[in-house]
Amino acid sequence: MDLTERPRRLRSDGLGPLVSETDLSPSDLVAPVFVDATTDERRPIESMPGHERVPVDEAVARVEEVRETGVEAVILFGVPESKDSEGSRAWPEDGVVQRATRRIDDETDAYVITDVCLCEYTDHGHCGVLTSAASESWEELRSDGVLESDASGDPHMTVDNDRTLDLLARTAVSHAEAGADMVAPSSMTDGMVGAIRTDLDEAGFESTPVMSYAAKYESAFYGPFRDAADGAPAFGDRRHYQMDPANAREATREVALDVEQAADVLMVKPALPYLDIVRRVREGFDHPVAAYNVSGEYAMLHAAAEKGWLDLDAVARESLLSIKRAGADLILTYFAEDVARRL
Ligand code: PBG
Repeated sequence: MDLTERPRRLRSDGLGPLVSETDLSPSDLVAPVFVDATTDERRPIESMPGHERVPVDEAVARVEEVRETGVEAVILFGVPESKDSEGSRAWPEDGVVQRATRRIDDETDAYVITDVCLCEYTDHGHCGVLTSAASESWEELRSDGVLESDASGDPHMTVDNDRTLDLLARTAVSHAEAGADMVAPSSMTDGMVGAIRTDLDEAGFESTPVMSYAAKYESAFYGPFRDAADGAPAFGDRRHYQMDPANAREATREVALDVEQAADVLMVKPALPYLDIVRRVREGFDHPVAAYNVSGEYAMLHAAAEKGWLDLDAVARESLLSIKRAGADLILTYFAEDVARRL
């Protein structure tokens, strides 16, 4: 064999780490935390082994567990005590996320990000208020007792984009008032970043950054999360506001709109099935790029590991590494604690 170039020369134990192109560090990771106002004890989430919904009283303890692993940032999701058609428990001062945020902010040094959306707060489970036509059909479905997620595929049953904007902005401001370090709108409402930015600035929170779920796909990988946060739509689906998995160029347009509205961090979601989008956003924009390694991505690795088909630690680490390699600066992941503990 007469080779001058031998890539294997770089693969020795001593040299490999020196020349490796991508690194994972606990400071790249954000751990999702679920706070539940309907319970006074911790409740395991069956489809997401190792994760639980915790009552407000346990939120600080939960966040301290995360921080012990070296992960300093959390994203909070709330399960409210009650739901209505507007999602009005999303923005009050004594809402579940607001109460938890206040406590975490007072008692820990964690970096607190809050998810801003209405789907956990509306009784129909959509990410905003419904159009009046949809609202009427929803009343009908509800009075018929038809609350299955496949109850209607009617394309007119959808969210009123512009009426939703005010409610999202109000929610974001209430999170900032409670002490959130950053807000993360996830509803895919057109104009949401601008509406939130304007109201945050008016309320004196011009230094609070917005991490936009900028390219969020209508993905079947959110299944376990919807159990965890109790936010599955009661009818129809989200394809009128979340993106079609078939589209990549559209992601560039979505992200550009959020950049125009002064988004500080740009998120792609899910992560693993959308690494091409992570790369596209990395190359097309100079903002920090976040990727959300979602509940289904977590659940499928756990399920395979439980069967003995995959080595969980290895595939978790490899997944996160691949997301970074694709171009993400930070990763929201249910693996945060497990992976950080091993780094
Ligand atoms: C709320 C929201 C969702 C997720 C994050 N924020 C659910 C959805 O859009 O249905 C999904 C997270 C996950 O699956 O881990 N809009």
